[in-house]
Amino acid sequence: MLICHVVGARPNLMKAAPVVQALSAYPMEQMVVHTGQHYDFNMSEVFIKQLGMKAPDINLQVGSGTHAQQTAQIMSRFEPVLLESKPDLVVVYGDVNSTVAAALVCSKLMIRIAHVEAGLRSFDRTMPEEINRLLADQLCDLLFTPSEDANRNLAREGVSPEKVFLVGNVMIDTLVRMLPETEESLPADLPSKYALVTLHRPSNVDEMDWLAELISGLESASRELAFIFPVHPRTRQKISEFGIKPNGNGHIRFLEPLPYLEFLSLQRNATVVITDSGGVQEETTYLGVPCLTVRENTERPVTVSMGTNILVGRSAQRLIREIGRVLERPGKRGEIPPLWDGHAAERIASVIAGDGLPALENQTFPLAEIDESPSPGKTEGHGQPS
Ligand code: UD1
Repeated sequence: MLICHVVGARPNLMKAAPVVQALSAYPMEQMVVHTGQHYDFNMSEVFIKQLGMKAPDINLQVGSGTHAQQTAQIMSRFEPVLLESKPDLVVVYGDVNSTVAAALVCSKLMIRIAHVEAGLRSFDRTMPEEINRLLADQLCDLLFTPSEDANRNLAREGVSPEKVFLVGNVMIDTLVRMLPETEESLPADLPSKYALVTLHRPSNVDEMDWLAELISGLESASRELAFIFPVHPRTRQKISEFGIKPNGNGHIRFLEPLPYLEFLSLQRNATVVITDSGGVQEETTYLGVPCLTVRENTERPVTVSMGTNILVGRSAQRLIREIGRVLERPGKRGEIPPLWDGHAAERIASVIAGDGLPALENQTFPLAEIDESPSPGKTEGHGQPS
């Protein structure tokens, strides 16, 4: 049996690493195809090294482009790889353009597809990732979900329950494995209290006025608390294109994107994390660190209902207010969601190997719960902030 993993963007690597590892315990061959969606050393290669992942067997080297260009390039370059290698199963991860492009090629070639992190929905179709999630899940044969809400979403969309397996969160598998190594990765000159910032969503960085307002809001908050801001390439490009100049009144340390261990160390020790990333919402929930998400909605509602996440929406005022609250009193206390236990990839491997899901307490989802959920297609926020 040959399993082919497809990765492309930075967060795919943290998700694929534990699955490749867990599958290596079974008698099967594996290959890793990197689409080249992310190509900078510090967006890809450094993660592969730190995670101790098998180096990609093939890099499709698609690079950047419009969504159509990037998706089309991945499809046309991935098809011959599949025709030659003939894998029995292709595993795709998350919600990036590489995910949907690879799934579409496989479905036309009748190759079975597994989706890791299936079923998450923001119900906001202005997000490119929501389109990728909806389409990928319709095409896949095995759907591995991180939380119960995802199972309900898939049931509502008519996905057969036999294909869906609630396994937990593979990103947390990587976090659990790497956490002991984090202490050595802290910079020596780290302030005792600081906010860690990541922003890269088109909804935050592609619009000049809002990005300028956001950065100016962060600067004014950074008079009270040091800020550390590793800047994603997309964000750096937009700041430069729009000519946004920090006014220099605050204490924001702008950095290049950080490797996994360094970023995890900073998250773990942060007073508060400000983000629009999906993975960071999950990681802060696991770490019990207050998280302020600069979005109107989230496809990871469990981080709000159970975890430390608060959606502050598109409001610099609200963001500044919530940062002030975290400084006045301990931030939102949270719990770790079920099955975010460091063993999600082992469950995935067991299903792929045909051994089924190891016994779990609750694999059934009453229809009443399905009916209560929001209907697909609407722009709707999950778990409104307190
Ligand atoms: C992509 C994913 C997003 C994910 C994010 C994680 C999609 C639709 N979006 O967004 O869901 O959260 O990755 O980082 O798939 N660039 C570089 N070097 C790189 C990669 C990108 O300079 O190695 C620049 C390019 O100018 C590019 C821009 O960043 O145009 C955006 O890259 P792209 O892959 O299109 O999307 P991301 O914003 O990174």
